[in-house]
Amino acid sequence: MSPAALPDAPTFTDRRDAPFHGKDILSVRQFSRQDQEYVLRVAHEMRNLVARIGSFDLCRGKILANLFYEPSTRTSSSFAAAMERLGGSVISINEVRYSSVAKGESLPDTVRTLESYADVLVLRHPEVGAAAQAAHYCKKPVINAGDGVGEHPSQALIDLFTIREELERIDGLTVTLLGDLRYGRTVHSLARLLCSYKVTLRLVSPESLPMPPEICEELRAAGLSFTQHTELDEVLAATDVLYVTRVQKERFADVEAYEAVRGAYVITPETLRAAKPEMIVMHPFPRVGEISMDVDDDPRAAYFRQIEYGLYVRMALVAMVLGRA
Ligand code: NCD
Repeated sequence: MSPAALPDAPTFTDRRDAPFHGKDILSVRQFSRQDQEYVLRVAHEMRNLVARIGSFDLCRGKILANLFYEPSTRTSSSFAAAMERLGGSVISINEVRYSSVAKGESLPDTVRTLESYADVLVLRHPEVGAAAQAAHYCKKPVINAGDGVGEHPSQALIDLFTIREELERIDGLTVTLLGDLRYGRTVHSLARLLCSYKVTLRLVSPESLPMPPEICEELRAAGLSFTQHTELDEVLAATDVLYVTRVQKERFADVEAYEAVRGAYVITPETLRAAKPEMIVMHPFPRVGEISMDVDDDPRAAYFRQIEYGLYVRMALVAMVLGRA
């Protein structure tokens, strides 16, 4: 090929001083309030850019590897869409049973293989700490897309972004986390993130599925005002953000224990009659009966908008770790 026929050099270059450039994203505890504000700002900019031009070449020539050892619809496809909209490309290993993992390959070997091909690795795995382990072996940034019952930092940043975009503030709000607070990794990460704000937290769960004591300890240490309940009625009227979660069936050792708590809370139009007119209802999805479809047309139902916001936040995170934001 003659030099004249060579493609243009990338328009964007790495900014080595950019926050989170080359860093792993393993836990929300890595994000100071200032870092969070930065992510929200970049995500907001991504939202505007996508609305205006759809896709652009911020990460042109970069490759993202999506490595998922657990099922996913939104997280895997939104990371893929994020990378595509940033002008990069994606290697998807969404079904590890069709990869060498099925032959017994270890996580470190799989990670070392993918780092040879890709610039950033997104990992979902059933074990707590798997993302940290992968990061230990991987020279490229690793983004934790859920490690068992541990954390789901990108989702929690999406949740924060949703609250900010929808209600234009975070400080001063009453946030109610409802459902499986024991096994739900998204609420673990979100509760930790909310420690940076002056919010009132209401934790509503079946008695057998409370927020883990170590997270309650972190909330206390951060001086966050929170209370624990089993009845939503006790807190609904004062709630600004109702964050609903599914009971995490796959984390239960026996089916009976799951059956005893599934369907513990179901949000219906009737439920919302007792809620503030400007409250928002969020859910990380998938929902499996916790929110009736009859709620979907209520303007307070923010969960489909939350899914869309996921694209912008993941674009921001990918661009950040690649030094392009
Ligand atoms: C969540 C997850 O995987 O932790 N989904 C998601 O990524 N939005 C929530 C869930 O599975 O209940």
